[in-house]
Amino acid sequence: MPASTPEIIYQLKDVAKTRSSNGYTFGLRVPSLRICRGEKIALIGESGCGKSTLLDLLAFILQPSDVGDFSFCAGAAGTVDIGAAWRKQKRNRLAALRKAHMGYVMQTGGLLPYLNIYDNINLSRRMLGMPADDTVENLAKELGLVRHLYKLPDALSTGERQRVAIGRALAHRPAIIIADEPTASVDPFAAEKIMSLFIGMVEERNITVIVASHAWRHIKQLGLRRLAHHTRRSTDGRMTETVVSG
Ligand SMILES: Nc1ncnc2c1ncn2[C@@H]1O[C@H](COP(=O)(O)OP(=O)(O)OP(=O)(O)O)[C@@H](O)[C@H]1O
Ligand SMILES: [Mg+2]
Repeated sequence: MPASTPEIIYQLKDVAKTRSSNGYTFGLRVPSLRICRGEKIALIGESGCGKSTLLDLLAFILQPSDVGDFSFCAGAAGTVDIGAAWRKQKRNRLAALRKAHMGYVMQTGGLLPYLNIYDNINLSRRMLGMPADDTVENLAKELGLVRHLYKLPDALSTGERQRVAIGRALAHRPAIIIADEPTASVDPFAAEKIMSLFIGMVEERNITVIVASHAWRHIKQLGLRRLAHHTRRSTDGRMTETVVSG
């Protein structure tokens, strides 16, 4: 393979997810999506358009309703047929892939309230049996969290907690980071600062990042590739469909 050929991490073709509740149906359709190693991808759209749904499909958290092709290349492990893994209900295999290769910054922060900041950041490393080293301290320095390391999440501001969530997603050195509105609950000024810090950190580490956000303006300045999406609603409002590709 020539050195210039980009390594494809995600390849999706005709993948769909339908979610229904209380007579309302939402459908996400992905006719075609390809994400290469080192890319920085943004999914920008209004509330309810399916950003979290797509990220959860890419993190193997949600099972797709239909799959034409869904493959994932996890470095040394080679290409994995994610559609087949779901069909065979290989949930442990999917969870293991996620743990080993991905960091997830959740929309709600998702910190464990009973663990201090150090242990929250160290969680993924501990779960993977990685040795104790200075990773957590170094991340805390970069994220401006050193004086908070031995506090519980409750004692931190929202922006500080979001920085902890970013540290936790990075600590086990994943190849991919999926970030669902990592700056959703802070003011626009803080959001811009946290997002620049976050993108700077993933760039430095050559991590592939997929980030969902409402705010395109400052994300554009950071050089992310925006996925195209189109949402339409039925006239009675009971059916919504979003088509994403890129
Ligand atoms: N567990 C679920 N069961 C049924 N429908 C769901 C479920 N979760 C989400 N939905 C619906 O799927 C649609 C897309 O939701 P999703 O959370 O992906 O949107 P989003 O773009 O992330 O929105 P936000 O910006 O508010 O986070 C919404 O209409 C939502 O009501
Ligand atoms: Mg969401």
